[in-house]
Amino acid sequence: MAKKKASGGAPAINIGINDKDRGAIAGGLSKLLADTYTLYLTTHNFHWNVTGPMFNTLHTMFMTQYTELWNAVDPIAERIRSLGHPAPGSYAQFGALATVPDAPTTPPKALEMVKILVEGHEAVARTARSIFPLADAAGDEPTADLLTQRLTVHEQTAWMLRSLLEE
Ligand SMILES: [Fe+2]
Repeated sequence: MAKKKASGGAPAINIGINDKDRGAIAGGLSKLLADTYTLYLTTHNFHWNVTGPMFNTLHTMFMTQYTELWNAVDPIAERIRSLGHPAPGSYAQFGALATVPDAPTTPPKALEMVKILVEGHEAVARTARSIFPLADAAGDEPTADLLTQRLTVHEQTAWMLRSLLEE
């Protein structure tokens, strides 16, 4: 049976993962991209707006964290492209896809910021974990590897932030 042609005369994608699985994995990764971008923006926002006696510690810590998140969005988007799907990249799309809530309009107190970020990293970890069964079943090792890396970062960052809230 002849393979469907992609647009522009390029041959149809044929990497050994069927169309349905590629679509499902790309859909999951689109949610992960939206969550990661939203958490990036909230963390940068908190870097700008944090106040109080922990200013120096949190201002610096948030910079490390938003830089890591900023660097993470690119490999996630490019994995979606490698699976043959368009990567979402607008505030409207991210707003519709994200499970992480948008940053509060009024800057919260420093420790409330930390709590919001703990919950954000945990939410992104849950999104990443939910894609694993799809990637596993399809034999999609590059996506599984990416998810493993993201889970490691989000769970470690959630622990570090959570530790600031413990006595
Ligand atoms: Fe800065």
